[in-house]
Amino acid sequence: MKRGNLQVGISAIKGFNDLLPFESGLWQFIEQTARKVFSRYGFQEIRVPVVEKTELFCRSIGDTTDIVEKEMYTFADKGGNSLTLRPEGTAGVVRAFIEHKLYALDSLTKLCYMGPMFRHERPQKGRYRQFHQIGVEAIGSTDPMVDAQVLHLVSRLFQELGLTEPSLQINSLGCPVCRPTYRRALVNFLSGCQDALCADCRRRQATNPLRVLDCKVPGCILATQGAPTISDYLCPDCDTHFSGVQGYLNAADVPYSLNSRMVRGLDYYTRTTFELVTGLLGAQSAVAAGGRYDGLVEQLGGPSVPGIGFALGVERVALLLGDRSFEQVPDLFVAVMGDSARKTGFRIMSGLQDAGLRVEADAEAKSLKSQLRRADKLKARYSIVIGETEIETNKVTLKRMADGEQELVSLEAVELAAKITGGSML
Ligand code: HAM
Repeated sequence: MKRGNLQVGISAIKGFNDLLPFESGLWQFIEQTARKVFSRYGFQEIRVPVVEKTELFCRSIGDTTDIVEKEMYTFADKGGNSLTLRPEGTAGVVRAFIEHKLYALDSLTKLCYMGPMFRHERPQKGRYRQFHQIGVEAIGSTDPMVDAQVLHLVSRLFQELGLTEPSLQINSLGCPVCRPTYRRALVNFLSGCQDALCADCRRRQATNPLRVLDCKVPGCILATQGAPTISDYLCPDCDTHFSGVQGYLNAADVPYSLNSRMVRGLDYYTRTTFELVTGLLGAQSAVAAGGRYDGLVEQLGGPSVPGIGFALGVERVALLLGDRSFEQVPDLFVAVMGDSARKTGFRIMSGLQDAGLRVEADAEAKSLKSQLRRADKLKARYSIVIGETEIETNKVTLKRMADGEQELVSLEAVELAAKITGGSML
């Protein structure tokens, strides 16, 4: 757009964020920690497209959920097909699991993934329109030990991230045998307090009554305080399964609490569901969430194979880790005096980079003073200054920046590398 003679800059779309260089170290730490933990539990990475057919999300997440009703980025491509930017990871992973018949390769398929997801929500702290999830899906077993393994993994992942704050809450949402009875009891209860509910909840009462329990409107919270809870309606199989999960969690000392009001915003869940919640992020209390989806694979056209998984929100984890520094500082700064020293400086710098060290120089700076200013700014651990004398004598002064301690060493990359990485000055 042009305004007069001025070109007006283009900014990013609302709710879509840039990750800037001084923030990416923190994200890499989160991703690397997740990869490390996932591999210990045997999860292998799967990468699926960020765009899928719209129908995939309608059939899995559910037509009457907020995500499908209000939040999807859906568009028609040039061929007139309805496509959607994925609002979450499970649907695409399950689609790929069925399409590539991964169930034929192993009785339990353990997959992990990370990447951007898209929901047209009202942006605020911890809630964005493009956000990033890291998650796992374990597909193939109903055994409560698998639920407990996933929950153990989640708990260890947060521990290794250095976060003690988000606490684990679990619930069982029952199955197609027991949930309809609970649903009827809840609808019955809600019809008795209809007038106290918000307009959204009055609508949900007919379409998706369990979601009423998750409404944040104070009037709805108050009105549903005495609502029946799913835990009183579980069928014997679901009850045994949920006790089994808790037995394993107790055996492995995984801390958790029961929250029988927890319902999830996606329709595919059955039995075990869970959230890692925090009070530190305002309205966005869930840092990670997941659960079992025993009917989903079949619902999407695959065999009758159960599954369970979770996903964490990277932005929310990054907010919780916030003030930790993941700055990458150079091991060495190479300053040069005079044009003839530039090539020697470049040779030494390249040699040390080949040896695995982080080395910086300043190609632009003319004076030695401004080069050393840059060494300070970058917080380099060591510096050297190469001039004619250094080249003639093949010796250079290696200076430790923290305390100014100096040592005369040979002007050879190998020798400098040895000193910097474990020599006498360390
Ligand atoms: P979800 O609860 O919709 O579950 O999302 C999981 C996590 O993604 C949330 O706990 C939150 O940290 C993050 N998140 C969700 N929406 C936003 C947003 N607008 N901005 C920032 N972060 C957000 C799922 O997506 C399921 N697929 C999880 C799962 C995997 N269940 C089984 N397997």
